[in-house]
Amino acid sequence: MKIGIFDSGIGGINVLKAVMKKYPNQEYIYFGDTIHLPYGDKTKEQLMEFGTNIIRFFEEQQVDMIIIACGTCSGMVEEYQRKTDIPIYDIITPTVAYVKSHYQSVALLATGTTIEKGVFESKLVKNGVQVSPLACPHFVPYLEGLNDQELNMDLELKSLKNKCYEAVILGCTHYPLLQKEIEQCLNVVSVDPGVCLANSISLENGDCSLLTIYMSALTSTLQSNVDRMLGQKTELIEKRLDYIVES
Ligand code: DGL
Repeated sequence: MKIGIFDSGIGGINVLKAVMKKYPNQEYIYFGDTIHLPYGDKTKEQLMEFGTNIIRFFEEQQVDMIIIACGTCSGMVEEYQRKTDIPIYDIITPTVAYVKSHYQSVALLATGTTIEKGVFESKLVKNGVQVSPLACPHFVPYLEGLNDQELNMDLELKSLKNKCYEAVILGCTHYPLLQKEIEQCLNVVSVDPGVCLANSISLENGDCSLLTIYMSALTSTLQSNVDRMLGQKTELIEKRLDYIVES
């Protein structure tokens, strides 16, 4: 099976890793839209355009399924699905399914756009889960090396310190890279949407194991970051997508 996975950058590599761990014998094509980083401060229209271009690219690559390895874009899965016949999987749906059967109250950390749109939160609330949401706009620029200011976790998560919840959802796929720091700071266990997604899908055993990683812009640290995250040597391919998107 050929599986297309996308995110704005390295966050989705966490999702790829979780899916590859469960299903090593598949063909994976990863697209990181690093030229448009961060997605977390983009409008819905911009995210529709970027995501639709990536879907076109995956159609050209003849993938059998697409995984939106991005919390910010996952809230728009129905709109993306209208653009293609290839089945699309998002990370919010399996995370909500997991959380509602394990917890009654959670903190939700995510990008500004995810928190503002409220899709993740409202799906949790609809399922009877109490939510304390918090946007963390500094995390992704820090993790992608877009700024070199150190993170002060106590300050970033201050507003959650005096609240009560049983777990914290790492609602942006970049955040598992800060899992230890977040768990320590809030003193609760975390929920990783990539793991929830990997556990929710069921694929037939494949017969080849292939991985190709495209990034829309390469930076000096990208290759080493991806290799460190995956624990293997890869060769990133720079790929600009210049399709015209009809509105
Ligand atoms: N990793 C993505 C998410 O899960 C996008 C983060 C960003 O580019 O701001 O929301």
